[in-house]
Amino acid sequence: MTRADINLKDLEEKGFLDLEIDPTLDLAGEIKRVKTEKNAVLLAHYYQDSEIQDVADFIGDSLQLSQEAAKTDADIILFAGVHFMAETAKILSPNKKVLLPDLQAGCSLADSCPAEVFKLFKEQHPGAVVVSYVNCTAELKTLTDICCTSSNAVNVIKSIPEDQEIIFAPDRNLGLFLMKETKRNLILWNGTCMVHEIFSEEKIARLRHRHPYAKLIAHPECEESLLEKADFIGSTSQLLKFTKESNSKTFIVATEPGIIHQMAKESPGKTFIPAPPQNNCACNECPHMKRNTLEKVYFTLKYEMPEIQLPESIIKDARAPIDKMLAIS
Ligand code: 13P
Ligand code: SF4
Repeated sequence: MTRADINLKDLEEKGFLDLEIDPTLDLAGEIKRVKTEKNAVLLAHYYQDSEIQDVADFIGDSLQLSQEAAKTDADIILFAGVHFMAETAKILSPNKKVLLPDLQAGCSLADSCPAEVFKLFKEQHPGAVVVSYVNCTAELKTLTDICCTSSNAVNVIKSIPEDQEIIFAPDRNLGLFLMKETKRNLILWNGTCMVHEIFSEEKIARLRHRHPYAKLIAHPECEESLLEKADFIGSTSQLLKFTKESNSKTFIVATEPGIIHQMAKESPGKTFIPAPPQNNCACNECPHMKRNTLEKVYFTLKYEMPEIQLPESIIKDARAPIDKMLAIS
């Protein structure tokens, strides 16, 4: 099938589901070959499936991936992550083609904060500086003064004068964590991540009883009561670093379990137990991140679609808060 045979609208809606793939094809090998041929770079978040991580040129947390997107000299950025991440890459590299394997790979945090509603909230606090977690839409970034990720959020808040009122959106849990860390009062938007809210503290307590020497490590998007019990709190890259440098041999990991692939690779011999969710389901896996598959990565690269498109005005206005964040990092 050639690009001309494909109805782009159909394909974006169905996410390549109707396209057949030759089962004998060495997908990983083909992805690597086409990447080189097209001067494309494949950026993958730690929450991606392990087989996607293994073909990526760069694996990282939200901050590292945006830094990489800003400096790459590739012609095409293929982003194995979610929509707001690919949007950020487009804002930072507007002249490059930015591809996302599934345009429906969203984020519950970004969805929890519609720009038009946030605008009204912001109007109720005139004079407040807006700090937005990068897990938000490009439209929300245009209403933001400084962005942050979980890696640099403490430093971003500390960079703002003490007497300045601050609105923090959209993640309430990260906001509460920042209030404790920085001893600042923040005006919080009430958004949450569906993945980091689902962990069962009761099941975690039972796991700790069975593994008394295990360290509980958690992402700051987790609820306050879980974070209070954690031995270490950090962004995905900080959690990875901690497991590598710690003398402990066992870790209970309270974040999306995709990260465990790199933890196990970087610390062979250590044991990583995914923190269990409340229900008997795989709902500690991010359903948005997991929309991407190796097959979709292959088709995206091959047909150079779906592509992230943003109006010039949004790119211009959303860039300033991201640039400020990168300068602080
Ligand atoms: P970090 O990779 O920045 O820790 O973010 C986690 C996350 O939830 C991304 O969606
Ligand atoms: Fe969004 Fe949570 Fe998924 Fe991250 S893990 S992309 S914050 S829904």
